[in-house]
Amino acid sequence: MAIAMRMVSINPAFLQEIKEDHHELRQLMHHTSAMLDRSGPEEIEYKRLVEMFSKLRDQLAMHFSLEEAYGYYEDAISIAPHLCRRAERLQGQHFELFGELCRLAEMSEQLLYHEQPKTLLGGLAGDYRRFQVRFREHESQERDLILEAMNDDIGTGD
Ligand SMILES: [Fe+2]
Repeated sequence: MAIAMRMVSINPAFLQEIKEDHHELRQLMHHTSAMLDRSGPEEIEYKRLVEMFSKLRDQLAMHFSLEEAYGYYEDAISIAPHLCRRAERLQGQHFELFGELCRLAEMSEQLLYHEQPKTLLGGLAGDYRRFQVRFREHESQERDLILEAMNDDIGTGD
């Protein structure tokens, strides 16, 4: 009996293009971070912050959807199983990272109704910083994978 193993693989050229094109996501991340870090609690417009998190959630959903639609694919045969294992792990991180950003967006909405929003704000800023670190690590590991997949293609003459 033959068993076909489906392996997650990447299309490095498409994945790289998606990363290069997603300026809006990078800008939103930067502006959200700047708003949380530079302003004192009295200066923050909570409504604006909620809007930023909402836009960020939409942009991240689009970013991951594009990556999964065009950058990742499943194949029955793989020439580079070591790259497939990493691709599978990185693809799995999309779900975790998106879930975390949804939680932060909901937390920002609570600022509007909370009696003491300042106490929530500190927690939100800290959690957002940790989210950014994880997201950057994810992006950096995907970039490394893109380069290695491209080198593999060149090396094998495909
Ligand atoms: Fe990704």
